[in-house]
Amino acid sequence: MYSLQSHYQEAIRFATYKHLEKNQKVKGTELPYVVHLSNVAMEVFAASAATPGFGLDYALQVALLHDTIEDTDTTPDEIKEQFGAEILEGVIAMSKNESLPKERQIPDSLARIKVLRKELWAVKLADRIANLQAPPSYWSKEKIRKYQDESRLILDALADGNQYLAKRLEDVIDDYNKYLV
Ligand code: NI
Repeated sequence: MYSLQSHYQEAIRFATYKHLEKNQKVKGTELPYVVHLSNVAMEVFAASAATPGFGLDYALQVALLHDTIEDTDTTPDEIKEQFGAEILEGVIAMSKNESLPKERQIPDSLARIKVLRKELWAVKLADRIANLQAPPSYWSKEKIRKYQDESRLILDALADGNQYLAKRLEDVIDDYNKYLV
């Protein structure tokens, strides 16, 4: 009983410490990075309520841990030991392969996500929704436009993963136009 809640608490505590060690903030703000993680988890909760048979326990852990390997000193073994092999596999698929040229990194991650369970597709959609809040003030219009285009690429690749989040991402992408005027 209550394994969902204890897994959530374990994952948010682990990720919060790891991102704090790097003093990582939500891009363009002074907010600690855990605010981003909690926003992704919130989107996943909302999707779960709208999606029959949704694997919430899995999705929440991956949502909370999704940037630990990419952005902190966390090793794959640490994730595997504390959260298991399936969570590790999801976190790795969410992580960019930085040895690839920059323009290949997102398509590569999307291809690795697409062979795994639909809840992982949902986490990626949720991540992008959470990232489409007001862009950092120092971003140029060109950069904002590129980010919106990249978001459409993610939506096109993963829309079949979760209807609720696909619709929500579509709306958020449209709404992002207000930063382009
Ligand atoms: Ni993220």
